[in-house]
Amino acid sequence: MIKGRSLVEPEDFSLSEMDSLFLLAEKIENDEKYLRDSLRGKLLATLFFEPSTRTRLSFEAAMLRLGGSCLGFAEPGSSSASEGESLADTIRMAASYSDAIVMRNPKEGAALLAARYSSVPVINAGDGGHHHPTQTLTDLLTIKRLFGNIENKTVGFCGDLKFGRTVHSLAKALARYSNIKMIFISPTELVLPEYIKSMLKKQNVEFEERENLEKSMPELDVLYMTRVQRERFFNEDDYIRLKDTYVLNPDKLSAGKEKMIVLHPLPRVNEISVEIDSDSRAAYFKQAKYGMYVRMALLASILGVV
Ligand code: NCD
Repeated sequence: MIKGRSLVEPEDFSLSEMDSLFLLAEKIENDEKYLRDSLRGKLLATLFFEPSTRTRLSFEAAMLRLGGSCLGFAEPGSSSASEGESLADTIRMAASYSDAIVMRNPKEGAALLAARYSSVPVINAGDGGHHHPTQTLTDLLTIKRLFGNIENKTVGFCGDLKFGRTVHSLAKALARYSNIKMIFISPTELVLPEYIKSMLKKQNVEFEERENLEKSMPELDVLYMTRVQRERFFNEDDYIRLKDTYVLNPDKLSAGKEKMIVLHPLPRVNEISVEIDSDSRAAYFKQAKYGMYVRMALLASILGVV
């Protein structure tokens, strides 16, 4: 039962709880009337201390489609945080006005702290370069829907694996499924953090670290492209030097399997050329849509109407 629980890290839900969410998301997608208005009278607080388009809009769309309402801010400058209010106090206030809180914050660990102070469930919509579990639900649902299952895949992660929170969360989540091989493709400055690698080793997950995207292409069932996370760099020159290390173009994709898929949490900067958008393997816009359905399933489950 997910009712009343927070989602801070991908492992907060069991595999069978995630499976129920995926089934529910599919049901909602196939029947527009299903659960319509089930959240009437419920309020979702959306506290975005960092920019967001898809995550915030998909949560708002999810809540509104289920008949609920949203309140919150998309600019930290317009909240009392800019006046020096502590996160704990902001969360206590938001919890007293709402039935659940969705929060994105630039500090790693902020969601965990929020969940401790909140009297209502807290959903982590990204805490710094740490985790982004609802993007992971989106990514897993996309893989499941497009392949029929999540197991037995070779998944390549490419780009900023150091700061990319969606990568950290997805790698941790995929480690729980059987026969997954992960290939981490990045420049040496942006390799996957040590704590994720040691977790993968402990769980005996097969993985490799590489620098070359082209050579890895033929092996992949899923290619997860990411942008270089400019906002987490201390030095703009480093960002400029690294930002275009990988650009997926039709030439590179031509070495990929016919049935592979290309995912990206978006926003894309230059790392996938627009010519790829019309390739049947490009799944990132579908992925964004699945994100709304899985968030509908999540909200309906957390708020206890299913
Ligand atoms: C991601 C994020 O915010 O971490 N975006 C998203 O939620 N869809 C990825 C990114 O910003 O690069």
